[in-house]
Amino acid sequence: MEIHRYEKIWLAGALLLIVGFIATISYGAVGAGIEMVDDDGGQIEPNAISDHPKFSEPGTYKTGENEYDVYVVAYQFAFDPGTSDPIRVPANSEVTFHITSRDVVHGFEIVGTNANTMAIPGQVATITVEFGEPTEYGLLCHEYCGSAHHAMEGSIQVVP
Ligand code: CUA
Repeated sequence: MEIHRYEKIWLAGALLLIVGFIATISYGAVGAGIEMVDDDGGQIEPNAISDHPKFSEPGTYKTGENEYDVYVVAYQFAFDPGTSDPIRVPANSEVTFHITSRDVVHGFEIVGTNANTMAIPGQVATITVEFGEPTEYGLLCHEYCGSAHHAMEGSIQVVP
């Protein structure tokens, strides 16, 4: 009988320790500012991009008075749109980019700004940018993605 009771006490103690360790790990991660790769945009099946209502017709969509969504598909070695056709957005607008990749990991960087994200197959990255006066920005892939990585670029035209 005595032994049985001690067993229970030790069991309870061990459980308490486990809970404590988990709490420490969880709290530690939050405290250190660790976050998942931005997945606000959700997930997407890389082989089914053509079935997506927006990524199947990537480009600029008006969502509000001065607000736009831009859907971009990255692939070896271009942005669609961006490379063959520039991305066009109106001046003085707030633009949310939704970016995914249909093959390997790419980067999406608006040259000369702090706007950049990774383009990961299966994931939709979203970044929101405010554009001012009409101008043109360069677009770069800043994640090594293969033999022509250095040539993967494009442009954004901010139009009046
Ligand atoms: Cu795409 Cu580097």
